[in-house]
Amino acid sequence: MLLFKIFPVLLAAIAAAVPTNPQALTAATNHFEKRNATKEGCVYMCMFPRWEGPCEYKDFKFGECVSFINTTWYQHILSLTPQPGVMCDLSVDWRDCASASNVGKGIKYPGIDDMIEHSRDDQIGSMMCYEG
Ligand SMILES: *[C@@H]1O[C@H](CO)[C@@H](O)[C@H](O)[C@H]1NC(C)=O
Ligand SMILES: *[C@@H]1O[C@H](CO)[C@@H](O)[C@H](O)[C@H]1NC(C)=O
Repeated sequence: MLLFKIFPVLLAAIAAAVPTNPQALTAATNHFEKRNATKEGCVYMCMFPRWEGPCEYKDFKFGECVSFINTTWYQHILSLTPQPGVMCDLSVDWRDCASASNVGKGIKYPGIDDMIEHSRDDQIGSMMCYEG
């Protein structure tokens, strides 16, 4: 259906016109540097593109499957960055972080500031991150 082809293009055009939000990314970077790590890694994720809130920091261990099922984040992450030195695989499936339907592999800082622009909107069900 034509609408499905045109709609993401329109959204991408609108998103591209919005300036990115370097202040928000700087705040996240400061958090990464100063955080009291209880786990090995951290991502900063937001429900809107370009680090527009609500946003949250999510801690994890390397190789741990972090599922967003039954959280407000399930299929609602529209921008995300791992802390520097961390690499994340994003998956559609909430059970299987290594599913074939991966949204993105080896995502590194400064991450993806607009999932819509990259046609990865409303898809993330889980993630798994590594040192890298
Ligand atoms: C880390 O812990 C110290 C001492 O408890 C606290 O002052 C500081 O605000 C904490 N930093 C973060 C980023 O939570
Ligand atoms: C999600 O919530 C539903 C409804 O409460 C529950 O039946 C289901 O087991 C939960 N799924 C997981 C993976 O926790």
